[in-house]
Amino acid sequence: MQKSTAPSSLWRPWTPITQQAHSLRIVEAKGNRVRDAEGNWYLDGISGVLNASCGHGHPRLIEAATRQLEQLVHYDPMVSSHDPAETLASRLAETLPGELNETVLLNSGSEATEAALRIALQFWRNKGEDRDRVITFEAAYHGTTYLAQQLSGLPFTVSEWAPPFPIDHVSLPASPRDMRTQEAADALIGLFAAALEAGPPAAAVMVEPLLGLGGCVVFPEGFLARLRQLCDQHGTLLILDEVFCGFGRTGRMFGFDHDGITPDIVTMSKGISGGYLPLAAVTVTSSIKETFVREPIAQGLRYGHTTGGHAVAAAVGNTVLDVMADEKLVENSAAQGAALLEGLGELASSPLVTDVRGLGLVVAIEADSAESGDAIAAAMARAGVLARHERGVIRIAPPLTLTGADTEEILQAIGTAVDVTAAARG
Ligand SMILES: Cc1ncc(COP(=O)(O)O)c(C=O)c1O
Repeated sequence: MQKSTAPSSLWRPWTPITQQAHSLRIVEAKGNRVRDAEGNWYLDGISGVLNASCGHGHPRLIEAATRQLEQLVHYDPMVSSHDPAETLASRLAETLPGELNETVLLNSGSEATEAALRIALQFWRNKGEDRDRVITFEAAYHGTTYLAQQLSGLPFTVSEWAPPFPIDHVSLPASPRDMRTQEAADALIGLFAAALEAGPPAAAVMVEPLLGLGGCVVFPEGFLARLRQLCDQHGTLLILDEVFCGFGRTGRMFGFDHDGITPDIVTMSKGISGGYLPLAAVTVTSSIKETFVREPIAQGLRYGHTTGGHAVAAAVGNTVLDVMADEKLVENSAAQGAALLEGLGELASSPLVTDVRGLGLVVAIEADSAESGDAIAAAMARAGVLARHERGVIRIAPPLTLTGADTEEILQAIGTAVDVTAAARG
C-alpha cells in the first residue's frame, strides 16, 4: 500500500496527531471497491465508514439524490414537513415491529443517541415519575456527542467530564470470546438484573445488539429477549442502538430481530442512507410520543437540527429500502456472512488468532496481540482488502452487496495475511 506524505491541514478525529500525515487517501469508489490516490484498488472490507451497505456509486441512489436535489433540497423542519421525510417515517413504521411508529429524523448516530436519551428522560417527567438513571454496557459505544460519550465506559472513549445524570455500566462477565456460552448469558443477565435492582428505578437500558467498537462481541441467542423481560419487570425503557447493526448488517433487518423483540426506542444511522448522505433516525412507540402532549413547556421535543431529515438524505433513505428489498441484501448479508465465518474457521489452528466471531456481515478476527492485529490488517491491505483494526480485533464489515467471489477474495487475503505475519515472526 502506497502512502501519501503530502502535508495536510485536515485534522482527522480519533487519529493520533503523529499519524495524520501518513494516511491512505481514497479518491474513488465503485461497487464493493475503492481506489487510493496511487491507483491501487481494494475490496472495501469496511463499507466506507461501516455504512456503505448498498455498495458505492449505486446508480439508483445517485439518481434518487439527483432527482431530489432538483426538486427540493430541504425545508425548515419547524415550519413544514416534506414528502421524502414523511415517506421515510411511514416506511420505518411499516418496517419496525409493534408500536414503533413515531420517528425523529437527524444527521448522525450520536445525535440519535442524544435524542433517544432526551426522549426517554422527558418521558418519565411527562409521566410525573422521577427516573433519570441509565444503564449501559461498559464496553458500549453510542457516539461522541457529550451525552452519547458519557454512555461508554471504554478507556479510549471515556469522557473526562461528569455525566449530567447517573449512568451505571455493566461489565462483561467473561472475555469476548467466551461470551457465546449459556453460562455467560446467564451471568450477563444476572449483572443487568443487579444493576436494575441496585439503585433507584432506572429510566432506560440502552444496548447495541452486538458490541461493535467494544470488541465486536456477539451475545448468545436469547440475551436480548431476556433483557426485554427484565426491563418490563422494572418498567424500564429498552433502547436498542441499531446505528451499526440496523438495515441488514447482521443478516436480519435489525439486530434485535434475531431475538424477535420490540424495543421501546430504536436509534438508526449508517446503513439507513447507505452512507450516501448524513441521516439518522430515532423511532419510539406511540405510547411514548403520546406523553409529550403533557410535556410541561408545550414545545414537543426540544431537540432537533437544521439539516435533520434533510430532504435529499431522506429521499436516498427511501431508495435504500427499495434497493435492499429488490437486491435481497438482508438475505445476502446472512448468506455471505455465514460463508465468511465458515471459511475463517480454518484460522483456528493459527497461534496468532485467538477467536473468530461474527453475525451476518460483521466478522471479527481476534489476534493474540495488538501488534499481530496491526500486522495482519496491514498485510490484508497489501493483499487488496481493507479491514479495520482496533486493539487486537480486526473487523470486517463489507457492503451487503458482497458477491461469492468477493467473499473468496477476502478469505484468501486473510489467509495470506495471517501466513505472512506468522512467517515474519519466524
Ligand atoms: C453503535 C453505534 N452507535 C452510535 C454511533 C455514532 O454514530 P455517528 O458516528 O454517526 O455519530 C456509532 C458509530 O460508529 C455506532 O457504531
